[in-house]
Amino acid sequence: MESARTIADLRRHIGIWRGGGDRIGLVPTMGALHQGHMALVRAARAECGRVVTSIFVNPKQFAPGEDLASYPRREAADLALLASAEVDLAFAPATADIYPAGFATVVRVTGLTDVLCGAHRAGHFDGVATVVTKLLLQSSPDAAYFGEKDYQQLIVVRRLVADLDIPVRIVGVPTVREPDGLALSSRNAYLTPEQRRIAPAIARVLRSIAEAVARRPNSVACELASGREELRKAGFSLEYLEIRDAETLTPVTDQLTAPSRVFVAARLGRTRLIDNMPLTPPA
Ligand code: PAF
Repeated sequence: MESARTIADLRRHIGIWRGGGDRIGLVPTMGALHQGHMALVRAARAECGRVVTSIFVNPKQFAPGEDLASYPRREAADLALLASAEVDLAFAPATADIYPAGFATVVRVTGLTDVLCGAHRAGHFDGVATVVTKLLLQSSPDAAYFGEKDYQQLIVVRRLVADLDIPVRIVGVPTVREPDGLALSSRNAYLTPEQRRIAPAIARVLRSIAEAVARRPNSVACELASGREELRKAGFSLEYLEIRDAETLTPVTDQLTAPSRVFVAARLGRTRLIDNMPLTPPA
């Protein structure tokens, strides 16, 4: 596996591969890699001759008071994992290379970012949209791979790529879960053993809502109310538990008529967990 620390070095490698006719797949990450990231790498590996993974803890997507300073950083272990998955290039730039002095541009996707996590994490999606745009322009991949666990992020990225005419295919990859249902996340490492025991309730509640509204599409309000109650009783401090249209993110409060998703964000102590699942209206 090659590695690049600068944008110039990244472009040099990609230029050589492109010249040889290779398709390039980009897997953007913030490191602290787990099997969810490795599923993105496998999806890229299956479709592209060359796979590039970026590791960059993007300061612009952390709201004030969030966990930027304590976000897990394990570069040596990450690089070993990527090498074992036959990634061709790890791009791990310095913050000053991505945001040099005088950097003054913000990429903002409106509308889609006003709700769910966007309503609770000031500036988060501006930071994500800005860094993802930069990574796409720096590496000019044929395809870029994002986890469905961060579903709102996935559709924000799809929107910006369409709006800015960036010639890349955005691929969503299903969430990878622990055997007890907990969605894999770098932030799971923050959970105490007691919180880790409670955490799978999130996936249980989402699954039970998905099953109930598939049977009774007009039970949305009642299922959401009992899901909220169950999570609070389990010890979560709930930010949101909502059903929204899978493309537009408009709220579904009554009857399920179009493909939608149930979204949750909840805290256990200081750890914020998010998850979502697809909901299909009966045919
Ligand atoms: O999903 C993530 O890890 C990050 O939000 C991303 C897409 C790498 C941008 O920093």
